[in-house]
Amino acid sequence: MQKIFLGSDHGAFQLKSKIKQYLIEQNKYEVIDLGTNSEASVDYPEYGKLVGESVITNPNSLGVVCCGSGIGISIATNKVKGIRCALCNSLELAELAKQHNGANVLAMGARTQFIDPALEILEKFLTTEIDQSERHERRRYQLNQI
Ligand code: RB5
Repeated sequence: MQKIFLGSDHGAFQLKSKIKQYLIEQNKYEVIDLGTNSEASVDYPEYGKLVGESVITNPNSLGVVCCGSGIGISIATNKVKGIRCALCNSLELAELAKQHNGANVLAMGARTQFIDPALEILEKFLTTEIDQSERHERRRYQLNQI
């Protein structure tokens, strides 16, 4: 089963719980929740780092990270070499992030506006294939060199 690593700060604990339940009910992923485990205040960089490092050390795995805005934890996760974390609030962005950018972590902001429902964005991210055409491969390669 494909591993999916989850992480959030307190501001997105409820959203992460909803995502976790949704993924477990799918019964086709190994869901690994790296915390946080309550609404008590924590610092989002720790959870972005944990998810990023887990995705890199587990080939073919994916990650989902959430904080209040989605910005802080996406910045933290992207600091892990090899991570391409995309902050998405719509189906369009989730699809493009996977197709073009080969995003391996999806970020969402629990306290911001969603254009489309969070679980639909998640599903789009999980089910969209990476576009293997040469120009996208080339650009993803260039991202990896930075
Ligand atoms: C926490 O208060 C908040 O700063 C965090 O969830 C996030 O929005 C940071 O980018």
